[in-house]
Amino acid sequence: VRLEVRSRSGDYAVEVGAGLLSGIGSTLRGLGLEGRVAVVTDRQVAALWSAPVLESLSEERFAPVPLQIAPGEGSKTLSAADLLWGRLIEEGFGRTDTLLALGGGVVGDLAGFVAATFHRGMRWVQAPTTLLAQVDASIGGKVAIDHRLGKNLVGAFHPPVQVVTDVSTLRTLPERERWNGLAEIVKTALVLDAGLFAELERSLEALGRGAVEDGRWTDLVGRAAGLKAKLVSEDELERGPRMLLNFGHTVGHALESVTGHEPLTHGEAVVLGMRSAVAVSERLGRLRPDAAQRVRALLDRFPQPPSFPHPSRDNIREVIGHDKKARGGQLRYVVLDDIGRGAVDLALPPDLINLAVDAAMGAL
Ligand SMILES: NC(=O)c1ccc[n+]([C@@H]2O[C@H](COP(=O)([O-])OP(=O)(O)OC[C@H]3O[C@@H](n4cnc5c(N)ncnc54)[C@H](O)[C@@H]3O)[C@@H](O)[C@H]2O)c1
Ligand SMILES: [Zn+2]
Repeated sequence: VRLEVRSRSGDYAVEVGAGLLSGIGSTLRGLGLEGRVAVVTDRQVAALWSAPVLESLSEERFAPVPLQIAPGEGSKTLSAADLLWGRLIEEGFGRTDTLLALGGGVVGDLAGFVAATFHRGMRWVQAPTTLLAQVDASIGGKVAIDHRLGKNLVGAFHPPVQVVTDVSTLRTLPERERWNGLAEIVKTALVLDAGLFAELERSLEALGRGAVEDGRWTDLVGRAAGLKAKLVSEDELERGPRMLLNFGHTVGHALESVTGHEPLTHGEAVVLGMRSAVAVSERLGRLRPDAAQRVRALLDRFPQPPSFPHPSRDNIREVIGHDKKARGGQLRYVVLDDIGRGAVDLALPPDLINLAVDAAMGAL
């Protein structure tokens, strides 16, 4: 599957298929890239997937330089970026060389941030290896590191020149990470594509277990990534339709923020956030009760997150209020008018924020 993303800083393609990593050298040659390639990856991904990439790059005489970071969100920091800048300088990299991000959203966000800033911007290619990165983080050109006061607060729009999405990498992905990505696919289906939602209803457990063929992943990832690619092409800077992809994320982010990102994966927080958004949509009279019930039934099929000390509802409301302030006093809450049809509601009254928080916490 080949998708096109339009961007004010240059259009790019997203190639989705099985076994693409072993041909990545010629893919880069085909893009007209020259010079050298630094391959940024985390240690876990390096052990599993860097061999075919380095081999393929060497075959095309890109003289690849492997650069490794520690796995996990803790690597999206200024000090990790600093280490990478330092290695690039030591290796004599310039702005005509290329950076390749091989890994999940953490590697993509960090390496993309380094690419955006090194020599005022160098070319980069993204090879996402988690389901979440394949359907979400690798599309749209947002790159960032975290600040101690909040996630993704320092970053840029710096799209890659190409996204190479090899679904074969999903074979080694831990199950919890697969569910993490499935949460974003459900989200995308809910706001944009009722047909995709019906397909998820048919095969959610098999997908979660990873018990499907590469061809099925290519279809599913291609479809979900294609929906995001379309929204991002229409609205790169997130002033309009791209906001729909924040469905489930208002309460989801607040939960992650008060729990310190440890006990819940992003996807688990988003599943809870989607419960909130469904409750709100139903209360507003926008989503019919039978449709709301259908959504809840699908969300019930996600594994329950491991138990942890529950945060207070006041704290969650506080974070939502803070979020609202940072956005100029408007909470851009995404609701559903139907399965497959999201809408942005700009003025959510306080009692509905309470309902939203209660709906998420009630499911824990
Ligand atoms: N830029 C964006 O638009 C955007 C969008 C959504 C999320 N994000 C960011 O993405 C990050 C989360 O990304 P993630 O969920 O991919 O997490 P991640 O990058 O931390 O990867 C999760 C874990 O899976 C491992 N892993 C990756 N690929 C593997 C594979 N094929 N086989 C086995 N293990 C593998 C990693 O080593 C890591 O331990 C967050 O920092 C988030 O802010 C960015
Ligand atoms: Zn998300």
